[in-house]
Amino acid sequence: MNEFRKLGDDPEVLNFLADIQSLAQKGDPSPDSDRDCPDCDGYGYIVTPDDVKVCHCLQERKDKRRLGKSNIPKRYKNKDLENFKANIDSRRLALRQVKRFIEEFDLADERPGLFLYGAAGTGKTHLAVGAVKELVGRGHSCLFYNMVTLIGDLRQSHGYDLDREIQERLDRLYEVDVLVLDDLGAGKLSEFVLEKTYSLIDQRYSNNQCLIVTSNLPMAELEKQITYPVFSRVRGMCFTVMTGDVDFRNPDLAPKRL
Ligand SMILES: Nc1ncnc2c1ncn2[C@@H]1O[C@H](COP(=O)(O)OP(=O)(O)OP(=O)(O)O)[C@@H](O)[C@H]1O
Ligand SMILES: [Mg+2]
Ligand SMILES: [Zn+2]
Repeated sequence: MNEFRKLGDDPEVLNFLADIQSLAQKGDPSPDSDRDCPDCDGYGYIVTPDDVKVCHCLQERKDKRRLGKSNIPKRYKNKDLENFKANIDSRRLALRQVKRFIEEFDLADERPGLFLYGAAGTGKTHLAVGAVKELVGRGHSCLFYNMVTLIGDLRQSHGYDLDREIQERLDRLYEVDVLVLDDLGAGKLSEFVLEKTYSLIDQRYSNNQCLIVTSNLPMAELEKQITYPVFSRVRGMCFTVMTGDVDFRNPDLAPKRL
């Protein structure tokens, strides 16, 4: 008997797996798979006469869980690169640049970053969320943080009884593959918050960890708000994508130059 037969060639193994699958169908699905998946009935694996395959629903579930932990704000939950309208030049170019960033993400030696820069309502947050969804789909862990929320969380972390959810979120700032800081420069940065922001960005910069930043402040103002050492790192580690001056929320208003 050939001891090196393929697993899938062995009828006993196949019977065994089919048995497990039928048991699983009776109400003990894999916790990671989709109970309602018509392809595997929640088992997570598909047994055919020739093979055992991992069902697509296992991967989808993992992506969904990772996306759930990304902290994407409710309003942007269903925004992605697909539904970003590229109907004027500035939007077309910005979308193309974000897509190229995603394509090259896993190829680059240094973890690239993005600096989405433009007037209010020009789609910076939408594009940042779109990028997060694409990167989560490629297996990366991501965390979205609005700067004003981050300031609030950091302030609370000064106290004693920090909410567990906030603590977990703050811990992930340093760990995730991709961190989005939305609206950098917004909110009042106390000495303590500035110090924390510096150390966070410096650590990500030094460790080649990806940073995605958005801002609608004129450059000089942004630099003043976050101080030059932070500004220099952000600009240095991120590819700048200009989102233009046409406010999607208010198409009737005249474009606003930064
Ligand atoms: N090109 C676009 N296609 C589809 N929706 C868009 C586009 N640009 C912006 N939007 C939508 O318009 C709204 C405002 O966009 P978004 O919040 O991304 O702008 P922003 O540049 O982040 O603005 P702010 O500087 O005020 O934070 C969002 O609901 C977003 O989904
Ligand atoms: Mg925004
Ligand atoms: Zn399945």
